[in-house]
Amino acid sequence: MADLDGIKEAKQFYTDVPQTTQGFFLKGSNNLDWGLKNRLGRIFNSDSGRTVMLAFDHGYFQGPTTGLERIDLSILPLAPFADTLMLTRGILRSIIPASTSKAIAIRASGGPSILKELSNEQLAMDIEDSVRLNVSAMAVQVFIGGEYESQSVINMTRLVDQGTRYGIPTLAVTAVGRELVRDAKYMRLATRICAELGAHIVKTYYVDEGFETVTSACPVPIVIAGGKKRPELDALKMAYNAIQQGASGVDMGRNIFQSQSPEAMIQAVRAVVHHNETPEKAYDLYNTLMHETVGTQNGSAERVPA
Ligand code: 5RP
Repeated sequence: MADLDGIKEAKQFYTDVPQTTQGFFLKGSNNLDWGLKNRLGRIFNSDSGRTVMLAFDHGYFQGPTTGLERIDLSILPLAPFADTLMLTRGILRSIIPASTSKAIAIRASGGPSILKELSNEQLAMDIEDSVRLNVSAMAVQVFIGGEYESQSVINMTRLVDQGTRYGIPTLAVTAVGRELVRDAKYMRLATRICAELGAHIVKTYYVDEGFETVTSACPVPIVIAGGKKRPELDALKMAYNAIQQGASGVDMGRNIFQSQSPEAMIQAVRAVVHHNETPEKAYDLYNTLMHETVGTQNGSAERVPA
């Protein structure tokens, strides 16, 4: 009962130590509310300022994608090496243990399948379900230049409004239609529109020429999609170049889960993203881990992520 006894001399007010006010580590995010920052801080590692997001939400429009036929068998072993899991609520509820400590980026838009016009998406879940699932971000497709461009942009702004109410960030995914040119000019346009209209993170594709102008002109963090499966060294080079040119991480799917050794590949990607490892050294790591994995009894690599 020290307080009631009035022994004020025993208290430590540290009147000579000013309280520090720390800035938030993430690009463009310092003025956000605490809940938004806290969730972004779960997605992005505060030491590197970057994220390895493992994308396996492809089934929302293309069903059982190669490598995702059995997510319980192919993806769960990769989860320890990811900072964030990007997936649908159906897979989250049916496959992912609720005890996971990983940040969740939930797929919040959908509608058309690969058999239809893909840009015709709608918001596909209520904000209440995102709250219920304790997600760290909500992902929405934005089709700049697509047939349903305005509709997809409005999907995004509605999600930003809903998420802001509850402190949940929005991840805008810039989807590029087949008829559009994937160059820096297009990526600057698409990513900047998403950020201007409120997205907290923007996902886009890497382009070989001028990607640094895309990250420079976008006031919030950019993460890159992996795109179609390519040889492991090429995928590591792409991740490396994107990071060195200002990306805040990867949101990679097929180049990890369709790799010959997904567990080795995600660890190699991790080395590039969080430790600035060169693609060649990361590829050496990939080969070493792949051979270790082959040698283990259950086929599972045993290294713990950094
Ligand atoms: C679908 C998505 C996917 O989650 C993501 O882009 C796919 O990742 P990857 O291209 O690396 O397989 O957003 O549009």
